[in-house]
Amino acid sequence: MPQNPSMKILAIETSCDETGIALLDIRGGSADGRKAPRTIVKENLVASQIALHREFGGVVPNLAKREHIKNLPILYSRLERRLRRRGETLRFDMIAVTVGPGLEPALWTGITFAEDLAARTGVPLVGANHLEGHLYSFLLPSPERTTRNEGRTGTKAATTKIAEAKFPAIALIVSGGHTMLLEMDSLTARHTLGETRDDAAGEAFDKVARLLELPYPGGPEIERIARDGDPHAVEFPRPMLHEKNLEFSFSGLKTAVLYYVRDHGLPPVKGGTGRGGAAGPSRADLAASFQEAALDVLVKKTMRAVKESGARSVILCGGVAANRALRTRLGREAKKAGCAFLVPSFRYNLDNAAMIGLAGYMVRLRGARYPLRADGSLGI
Ligand code: KG4
Ligand code: ZN
Repeated sequence: MPQNPSMKILAIETSCDETGIALLDIRGGSADGRKAPRTIVKENLVASQIALHREFGGVVPNLAKREHIKNLPILYSRLERRLRRRGETLRFDMIAVTVGPGLEPALWTGITFAEDLAARTGVPLVGANHLEGHLYSFLLPSPERTTRNEGRTGTKAATTKIAEAKFPAIALIVSGGHTMLLEMDSLTARHTLGETRDDAAGEAFDKVARLLELPYPGGPEIERIARDGDPHAVEFPRPMLHEKNLEFSFSGLKTAVLYYVRDHGLPPVKGGTGRGGAAGPSRADLAASFQEAALDVLVKKTMRAVKESGARSVILCGGVAANRALRTRLGREAKKAGCAFLVPSFRYNLDNAAMIGLAGYMVRLRGARYPLRADGSLGI
């Protein structure tokens, strides 16, 4: 692939409950992953289905599928309209679509849409890995930084970030479906050090939120009420913290919260009283104590991996990376260990198509290929 001309990529993401279409302009990078590409995100459109799934307390796959089918052409037309308003026409050299992991009925909607579009336009289509999207999302230019320091295009912001990424790096991917630690020798050479044996961290946040009668998705709700709570009100277990491996387990922590609520009743959000009128922790205290336990395990295990591998950078990504307490704590520990801390801009933590465009470009750059078939349990 030519290194200098930029490639315009149309990216499509439908792995879960966000429909995403993005248009990116990417150039450069190296197949060995030592040089990062430069990325400009022209548009990044997301149609969230949260309000719809909230009624059911979680994502309903067939409902997600129906919504993606409805939203994809709407987002595509919106993209055309937005460009037209700027005097541009929608043109692209490649289409990238998420093929996994995720909900297969949802993934198929994106793949089918992408295949139709590729047939209509004659543009090549590549499959992208959702987890690689999260992993590379720190390279997407952050508009906050861009407008303040680095001009309007954002390419410099991305270059700055990769300049900070020293290898080996440890990456923590924490989302609703995954919790894993990777060791990376470059952007493209990596291996998995450990993953969760049961629930993902985001799933634990969602399940505990449900126990605390907070709406879906639970992560942001727990974080919100935890701000008013005492993180040491209840000492919940820190599963597998002291085991020598780099694996995680969150189902025991969720069960501990379940037992607590069963035995003590559900207290009010603030100023709690336990069952029988005795003063006790509030719901905010429970949320803060749960979050503290989950973050303790995530941060300490990541830093153990850093120590064992002699890593020089820490990458945090996935939906749970939106959690400010986690960003702050892991950032502080990474800096203490002399590591660069690389985390996506807030707009790219949750599922989006911009990260899929970048992941698709990297697949092409490596000369690799993912079959154009939904694979719910695709690994990294
Ligand atoms: O990456 P993502 O958008 O979708 C998956 O690939 O799974 O992650 C969604 C997950 C949900 O479980 C959600 O509760 C969690 O990320 N999440 C958070 C926060 N924002 C989203 N968890 C904790 N704190 C947050 N602020
Ligand atoms: Zn995700």
